[in-house]
Amino acid sequence: MTKSAPAMTVPNFVKAKSEGRKLTMLTAYDFTWAGLFDAAGVDSILVGDSLGMVIQGHSTTLPVTLDEIIYHAKCVTRAVRQALVIVDMPFMSFQVSPAQAVENAGRILKETGAAAVKLEGGENQARTITALAEADIPVMAHVGLKPQSVHKFGGMKVQRDEYRLLADARAAQEAGAFGVLLELVPRDIAAQITRDLHVPTIGIGAGPDCDGQVLVSYDMLGLTDGFHPKFVKHFAELRAEATRAAQQYVAEVRSGAFPDDAHSHR
Ligand code: KIV
Repeated sequence: MTKSAPAMTVPNFVKAKSEGRKLTMLTAYDFTWAGLFDAAGVDSILVGDSLGMVIQGHSTTLPVTLDEIIYHAKCVTRAVRQALVIVDMPFMSFQVSPAQAVENAGRILKETGAAAVKLEGGENQARTITALAEADIPVMAHVGLKPQSVHKFGGMKVQRDEYRLLADARAAQEAGAFGVLLELVPRDIAAQITRDLHVPTIGIGAGPDCDGQVLVSYDMLGLTDGFHPKFVKHFAELRAEATRAAQQYVAEVRSGAFPDDAHSHR
């Protein structure tokens, strides 16, 4: 996709499945990275609540607030020209009731200019997904490992309950979700769910047979420290490169090599 390609819409995102086009999604939380990923041609940008970990330094996504995700989504939408921007609904911004979810998702769309929201849940959130769909708020469901349920799961573990996974994905689709994100699901089960659904599946740690893939951008860029699960491929080693640059800057300032004539005004 180039800068002149038409912007990705929810209907086009869904149609990609029947057209056999693989969907690409990356997370972004600010203007600079969102603009870069958009210009690189990614189909969708997720303002993920993973920002709680990679931006804010928390050990889980649970502390992220609605106001915080709205702030980051505003930074992202200012940069994006083509990609579909989807915003995560933070922990406790939708679990209380369908009405709470509609109100908060409405705020996200109104205040950020994003086109859709994502929430963690399948069968257990079917009423909420329906309420959002009935309010014409496009919603993606997040099934499998749900990081907001980390305390219930007892850790970030691969989810292997085939019956539960299929039931959650089907319930989300029937309730009106326009897509289902599958996190940490064995590839054969993800493939089966992908065959079963008419809406696209987007996998993270769910193998190659999903209709699309998402990665946390800080992970795939090699920026996160000491986090390298099996499903993450480093497409760059920016942590090492940024460390080298910072060390060189420190050394050059201390030695007087920077700023030199070329970087000084007369
Ligand atoms: O918050 C997030 O970044 C996510 C990932 C699973 C993509 O939901």
